Amino acid sequence: MNSELFDIPADVTYLNCAYMSPQLRQVTEAGRAAVDRLQHPWELDVEDFFVPAERLRGLFATLLGRPDDADGVAIIPAVSYGVAVAVANVELSAGDEIIVLADQFPSHVYAWREAAKAAGGRVVTVPRRDDRTWAEGVVEAIGPRTAVVAVPHVHWTDGSVVDLVEVGEAARQAGAAVVVDATQSLGAMPFPIAGLEPDFLVAAAYKWLLGPYSLAFLWAAPHRRAGTPIEHGWIVREGAEDFSRLVEYTDRFQPGARRFDVGERSNFVLVPMAIAALEQLLEWGVDYVAATLEGTTAHIARLAAERGLQPTPADRRACHMLGLRVPGGPPDGLAGELASEKVYVSVRGDSIRVSPHLYNDVGDVERFFSVLDRLLGRR
Ligand SMILES: Cc1ncc(COP(=O)(O)O)c(C=O)c1O
Repeated sequence: MNSELFDIPADVTYLNCAYMSPQLRQVTEAGRAAVDRLQHPWELDVEDFFVPAERLRGLFATLLGRPDDADGVAIIPAVSYGVAVAVANVELSAGDEIIVLADQFPSHVYAWREAAKAAGGRVVTVPRRDDRTWAEGVVEAIGPRTAVVAVPHVHWTDGSVVDLVEVGEAARQAGAAVVVDATQSLGAMPFPIAGLEPDFLVAAAYKWLLGPYSLAFLWAAPHRRAGTPIEHGWIVREGAEDFSRLVEYTDRFQPGARRFDVGERSNFVLVPMAIAALEQLLEWGVDYVAATLEGTTAHIARLAAERGLQPTPADRRACHMLGLRVPGGPPDGLAGELASEKVYVSVRGDSIRVSPHLYNDVGDVERFFSVLDRLLGRR
């Protein structure tokens, strides 16, 4: 049972991976060992600044479906950081448009609003409509002034999927850059990298990548790797491995997307934790994770529909998470009341967002519905 790999008490029903993944035991152990080791900095050597970061880049590239492309991966602290890099590297002129989705996660909206303001452009928001997919809405919104399509792969509120291949084709035809936030998909479902090479892709580690908080990834398309970083630390410059020559300043960078790494990216605690997480994910395989979670979410959708709740339609949602729309809206404080019964989900807008992982079983789903039925006055 995969649940043994996590420290989740038997009376806790955690269906909220889209909020934050419970930590794998091996991730906790990696973090503890790393903290202990830092008591003795004299035991660190030059390799500690470089080798684990390279391993992590390679693991992330593999997960993305580009195992040989560690070069394209930068280690960053948050999605907002990666979006800031993207903003700094796309050209915007007066009148240009940036496309986002309704209710998109703020870290992938605010920076675009600021950029549009500075350039005299505007953000175009694709409304949520039941009669069309997100991709159809984005394609319709793309026009001659579209400079950037800044969308998620999976919408954080209800698990609805954006068909990135469809979006990517339309964006390319319009000459627009594509910047994808894959935080709510990578690790839980395959990324269509063969069908769409986004200009930039960002993903936080602490949800479906099962990694630690304050660590995220940026993947830059090959033609973006000569771009401008938003800060200038020593370690991303050429020759940084030779600590005795750091003040032989150079304008040259380490190869690939490494120039976009955040300062102190060698983070001696978070990097080993993230390595442990991605190793486990790759051992399972993303296809296995996706197929297993698809079974769980289908079961949840069925039980929800039987109760008159409206799950995100099967042909529009990701395999691993879904929203259950409550007609008339969920009662105030529902998530808190569920939590007081040790059932953990999120409420986003008029939907209950349910996001299981491999630690969940049928018993968790039954417990969720039995508590929910009681709170919604159905039993
Ligand atoms: C889609 C999405 N992007 C990004 C984040 C986190 O953003 P940041 O790393 O900037 O805190 C979240 C957190 O819920 C999210 O759901």
